[in-house]
Amino acid sequence: MADDRLIIFDTTLRDGEQAPGFSMNTPEKLRLARQLQTLGVDVLEAGFPIASSDDAEAVRLVASEITGPVIAALARCHRADIECAGEAVKAAKRARIHTFIATSDLHLERKLRISREDCLQAVVDNVTLARGYTDDVEFSAEDATRTDPDFLCQVVETAIARGATTINLPDTVGYCTPEEIEHFFTDIIGRVPNADKAVFSTHCHDDLGLAVANTLAAVRAGCRQVECTINGVGERAGNASLEEIVMVTRVRADLMPYTTHIETTALFPTSQLLTELTSEPVQANKAIVGRNAFAHEAGIHQDGVIKDRRTYEIMRPADVGVAQSTLVLGKHSGRHALKKRCEQIGVELSRLELDRVYREMINLADKQKTVEDTDLSAIVDRVRAQPSEGAIQAAGPRA
Ligand code: KIV
Ligand code: ZN
Repeated sequence: MADDRLIIFDTTLRDGEQAPGFSMNTPEKLRLARQLQTLGVDVLEAGFPIASSDDAEAVRLVASEITGPVIAALARCHRADIECAGEAVKAAKRARIHTFIATSDLHLERKLRISREDCLQAVVDNVTLARGYTDDVEFSAEDATRTDPDFLCQVVETAIARGATTINLPDTVGYCTPEEIEHFFTDIIGRVPNADKAVFSTHCHDDLGLAVANTLAAVRAGCRQVECTINGVGERAGNASLEEIVMVTRVRADLMPYTTHIETTALFPTSQLLTELTSEPVQANKAIVGRNAFAHEAGIHQDGVIKDRRTYEIMRPADVGVAQSTLVLGKHSGRHALKKRCEQIGVELSRLELDRVYREMINLADKQKTVEDTDLSAIVDRVRAQPSEGAIQAAGPRA
């Protein structure tokens, strides 16, 4: 694979689905999986089969129907988990088992209550077991970024020696900064003697709002798989957002010259489908897919966009599957946008009419947040039903 190619590993159906409010039933998971295939993700993590029989069934169905991406199933470093995951993905054209164990002392001592030696043994046993089911095994060191680097190097070297082909080092609690992540991966990849035998992967959570920045920093340090989700959904504050990572590589190819197989025009439809399936709305100002990502209300911005879109837009809405930019009519809007919007609904206004409609539109916008097309038509009708100012002056004051 070319060195500039990024493997897009989508975990919307696993890390995303396990967040409160985002659970989906099996038919819903299948619908989303089909859309993720259309989007062009390379690896689709379909679920955590040991978690429930429904989860196992969903992974099985995705594995038997979806043939484009590699289908991955998550498993702790436990025999039962690996067996269950191996069974669930066995129908896949290309199957991956993704096995993980926490490696930080905090997690080992306080959560798992095992020693570093026990942890290493679990890696040996379970990566070996997973390789019995498939040649494509990913190993994740949970809480890697808070793990003692010397111990982490030992774990990674062991996982690769036992057959892991992808090594994922998650920033599980979203604690790192981009500089730290870049240094972290450079250090580990540089120190592990068999690092060239595996693809390194990054999996960043967004607790400090740095997941995408951290993911890109990890790529700079040599990671060639990025783990992400649609709309950035996932545990707590979420995971790195797939649409943001992909569009950074398109819009800023001058700085981030990496390629993906993502069909960017499917980004917005995929985001919308996830919203429809989970009834969880995307925040209005979310980059790429939020309602306001291509909407302009301020008069100066509207004027600029009407004259040349590039004044306030760094990508074309159509490139991410959004039909067109919108000029929102509100109290900050100007006459240019009002005129344009009237033209879009088939109304040509004289100069005088434009002034009157503008005054009424601003009055209405003071009372309600935005002025919709139906409001605008009603204003136009009202203004046109009024006598013109010339006629009022000719009639003189009423008695
Ligand atoms: O955040 C995390 O560490 C994970 C692992 C299971 C990959 O989701
Ligand atoms: Zn995670």
